[in-house]
Amino acid sequence: MLKNLNDILPEAKSRKEAVGHFNINGQLWIENILKAAVSENSPVILATSDRMVDYLGGFKTIQKLVLSLIDYYNIEIPVVLHLDHGQTIERCFEAIDAGYSSVMFDGSHEVLEKNIELTRKVVDYAHNKNVSVEAEIGTVGGNEDGVIGGINYADLNECIRLVDETGIDALAAALGSVHGPYQGEPKLGFAEMRAISEAISIPLVLHGASGIPTHQIRKAIELGHAKINVNTELNLAWKAGLIDSLRNYPTVYEPKILQELSAKNIYSVVKEKIREFKNLE
Ligand code: 13P
Repeated sequence: MLKNLNDILPEAKSRKEAVGHFNINGQLWIENILKAAVSENSPVILATSDRMVDYLGGFKTIQKLVLSLIDYYNIEIPVVLHLDHGQTIERCFEAIDAGYSSVMFDGSHEVLEKNIELTRKVVDYAHNKNVSVEAEIGTVGGNEDGVIGGINYADLNECIRLVDETGIDALAAALGSVHGPYQGEPKLGFAEMRAISEAISIPLVLHGASGIPTHQIRKAIELGHAKINVNTELNLAWKAGLIDSLRNYPTVYEPKILQELSAKNIYSVVKEKIREFKNLE
């Protein structure tokens, strides 16, 4: 059975650790993320960006595939299936009805009142079905699920209101992170992060974690982040593997062989991130 964020994040937060959220872009990702998490005996969050759901065959297909693979490989670690950046409340309802165990409603592009009103509707629907809810304040830079924007820092009072008035389970407070590759060293707003983490008891979520150096990841975890989202680094690892394979085996055309290196690369990145988020050497 799938777990939700409340089953895994509060415990991770109390240990000053974070659980990895890894975006899936196909079966190769699901299998290798699960295998890496099993090898570390760690809970894991499998996430689909809203814009990838139709490409992957819809919510029900994804949910059934994830459950079937968990069964096929006899996986016993806690697994959360999460909708990343749900763009409308209806999409969140659809994910919940299809058996997702967690959803993010991204109302960050709305004015606060509207964000609160819509997020609360998702929470009411989700909590009735034991599904957890993440919400966002501020803007993560780069391409945020199809919406391209600059960085817009989360405001402390808005964070407090969103949490208190909706009953969400985890908060993504944008504080300088960017989806996709960084231009230069990432500059996270640690002073703002500290203020938010002191005012809010629910776990924080760090989006755009690909390319953030370990010392900044550690600091974010110290300051209350218990869920860390990684997508780009997995896709870069997949691409690098494919390029190497095409170069190394120019006459091979069997996808299984050509994607072996990509699979290995995805597995290694996930394993590395899980260890980094738990502060293991
Ligand atoms: P990256 O693509 O930068 O790893 O961000 C992932 C993310 O935040 C998904 O919500």
